[in-house]
Amino acid sequence: MSSGIVNLGVEKAPPVLLLHGLFMGGDAWFLDSPNQSLGFILADRGFDVWVGNVRGTKWSHGHASLSDGDKEFWDWSWQELALYDLEAMLTYINSITNSKVFVVGHSQGTIISLAAFTQPDIVNMVEAAALLSPISYLDHITSKFVLNLVNFHLDEMACDGGRADCSDLLASITGENCCFNSSRVDFYLEYEPHPTSLKNLKHLFQMIREGTFAKYDYGILKNVLQYGQFKPPTFDLSQIPESLPIWMAYGGNDALGDVIDVHHTLKELRSKPNVLFLEDYGHADFLLSTKAYEDLYNNMISFFRSCGNGISSSS
Ligand SMILES: *[C@@H]1O[C@H](CO)[C@@H](O)[C@H](O)[C@H]1NC(C)=O
Ligand SMILES: *[C@@H]1O[C@H](CO)[C@@H](O)[C@H](O)[C@H]1NC(C)=O
Repeated sequence: MSSGIVNLGVEKAPPVLLLHGLFMGGDAWFLDSPNQSLGFILADRGFDVWVGNVRGTKWSHGHASLSDGDKEFWDWSWQELALYDLEAMLTYINSITNSKVFVVGHSQGTIISLAAFTQPDIVNMVEAAALLSPISYLDHITSKFVLNLVNFHLDEMACDGGRADCSDLLASITGENCCFNSSRVDFYLEYEPHPTSLKNLKHLFQMIREGTFAKYDYGILKNVLQYGQFKPPTFDLSQIPESLPIWMAYGGNDALGDVIDVHHTLKELRSKPNVLFLEDYGHADFLLSTKAYEDLYNNMISFFRSCGNGISSSS
């Protein structure tokens, strides 16, 4: 699938695009039973569900000229996912459905959403957004595992030609999760984790070290060539239009989407998002909690219905 998105084919329903997190793929929205997994639930509740698979995931290796053995294949970070890939996905869905698109992001999916929504051409294609474990600032991250990687500059060791597939990371980086179904872990591991690029990890680690929400930092000389300034330009969250309806859910046990960082994000947004705080939720619970429907998806769907035009409430 060279476009990297899959349509589940429900017609004349409001389109919703699901954007998975780091080390995950679009399959992450379908890992539990049909009444627990957001991808199935949205389809059952009358949405036209589109599933993004970003570069580097197992479902998105259809490059026109490069293969995953080429270093250039991995020469990107979340910046390109936001400014090119998300724009291309929205343009495509927009052209097929003739309708603005609801966007749901988890983790890295929220980073690319927030960065992209600062761009008028992109945000104009969006009806409303739901951000699960929203991330734009990462300087209060509490994951010891990630902090160790950052401190030891592990991102500067090449894994394999630009590819970061250093597995086993998934559980160790996300912190305690309250509610996933431990008897399904073997099944989860048939699909996750997916690879990402080393440059993407470096970019994420720059966010942690520098406390910024900015483009990739190449170092002073190359920044001047690339951006015409010493420091990489920042993504200004106050550029996201006040009129964009935003719903967010974040967790008290989330080692990546720390509560202080989420509040920092909220402070910079001009709109007042609808916010749901789930005290016992860790990073992966937003996808995998066995009671995610009752805890948050139901609330999220009501929010979408309240802002979409003419969405019927029958299921
Ligand atoms: C989910 O669906 C199964 C049958 O497919 C049913 O037994 C179960 O009670 C449902 N759970 C919820 C929370 O609705
Ligand atoms: C956990 O997964 C098992 C195996 O798929 C399933 O039978 C069980 O109903 C699930 N439990 C919950 C609480 O969803």
